[in-house]
Amino acid sequence: MSKDSITITDNRTGKQFDFPILHPTIGPSVADISSFYKDTGMFTYDRGFTSTASCRSRITYIDGGAGKLMYRGYDISYLAKEKTFLDTAYLLLHKELPTKEQLKAFSFELKKRSFINESMKKLFDAFPDNSHPMAILSSAIASLSAFYSDSLDMDTPEEVMEMAHRIIAKIPTIAAFSYRYSKGLPVIYPDLEKSFVENFLYMLRAYPHNYAELKPIEVEALDTIFTLHADHEQNASTTAVRVVASTQAHPYAAISTGVSALWGRAHGGANESVIRQLEMIGSIDNVDKYIAKAKDKNDPFRLMGFGHRVYKNFDPRATILKDLRNKLVDELDINSHLLEIANRIEKIALSDEYFIKRNLYPNIDFYSGLILKALKIPKEMFAVIFVMGRAPGWIAQWIELKEQPDMKIARPRQLYLGPLERTPSK
Ligand code: SDX
Repeated sequence: MSKDSITITDNRTGKQFDFPILHPTIGPSVADISSFYKDTGMFTYDRGFTSTASCRSRITYIDGGAGKLMYRGYDISYLAKEKTFLDTAYLLLHKELPTKEQLKAFSFELKKRSFINESMKKLFDAFPDNSHPMAILSSAIASLSAFYSDSLDMDTPEEVMEMAHRIIAKIPTIAAFSYRYSKGLPVIYPDLEKSFVENFLYMLRAYPHNYAELKPIEVEALDTIFTLHADHEQNASTTAVRVVASTQAHPYAAISTGVSALWGRAHGGANESVIRQLEMIGSIDNVDKYIAKAKDKNDPFRLMGFGHRVYKNFDPRATILKDLRNKLVDELDINSHLLEIANRIEKIALSDEYFIKRNLYPNIDFYSGLILKALKIPKEMFAVIFVMGRAPGWIAQWIELKEQPDMKIARPRQLYLGPLERTPSK
């Protein structure tokens, strides 16, 4: 029995089983139970994977207790305040922050790929008016493999980076087109003179006949939101991307799976749900009633934007967004009525035993919605904004999985509770 191992005893037989302990750079150690079934004849069971490490990774580190988040070793507050989203996307893909020249070249590579194949517009045409932009976006990203015939193998760094540049560059255009089509508006093509974030807001908001000039603070605010969403370890949508990547499916199919998983309101769809919930609550006089519903075990109502699987302290991204929101209240004319309700919810929840006992704090989605609304981004586009931020993270995780020499197809087992074999009736 090695010192660096954990021993499990089957108390039915007294038999003991040793499993090696793997040590991280920082954070919890890992008991490697890969041989658990072979050794014990049993499966482990971990609902929602609350205690399961699914991979080895060098990309993002979260300390949920301390409310800490790092991308490639850089603290999120440094990246959000001192760097741009494109700096962060480059860091996630290339493991180092870019020099000025590298950033300029990266930005140019994205601009060159910001247009989409004109025949993709037939796909947008197929959707009825008022389709949710996430339905269009997930389909359009999956369709990229039909319009751009990258080799499936992606077996050279150049091919992989081509795929990465295409996805990051085309998602803003597809996102803006998805929204414009869903509202019956003519699409606005990318303007290569504009920066990545400015160009997206332009394609989303410009009307053929007039275009309200963007304020620099609007571009900065959205850039910060993209940076804060860029990656987040093995969350549900990243896990979905990794599972699809492990089957050797096309990377665009894997990223499209991430978009679909992110859409859920328990995940990236929460930011839209927060605003809808604030609008439904409607007045600070109703807050107590909804807090009571959130606490009621028999009521499925949950406080959107509260709680997190990993953060049992303030989500550091939420702290940055809260400061940003408070700074922008005047510049961006943030909806004071909804802000008043949000502040009331936060004040009550943070002092209520139910939320304290369960470590339920406001998460990133609780604050992003009001800023996005003030940026005149329609709420049905909020999850799309999340996708645009998360795309570099998903791709970095896809690349890391593909680079792992011992990568295995994801194939968990189950606790079977179904019927024993039945003899078919005559
Ligand atoms: C994101 O994983 C990531 O990293 C995700 C993300 C990323 O960047 O990728 O950070 C982005 O998805 C943020 C989370 C956005 N979702 C929401 O805001 C939706 C509302 N939150 C919940 O649905 C919930 O908190 C989750 C889904 C976020 C976390 O769920 P868990 O970890 O499975 O926690 P749980 O459901 O087991 O809840 C533990 C307890 C339960 O009560 P008890 O059974 O112990 O009595 O807390 C309660 C829950 O009922 N609870 C809530 C609550 N969230 C948890 N009660 C009221 N309101 C809530 N929001």
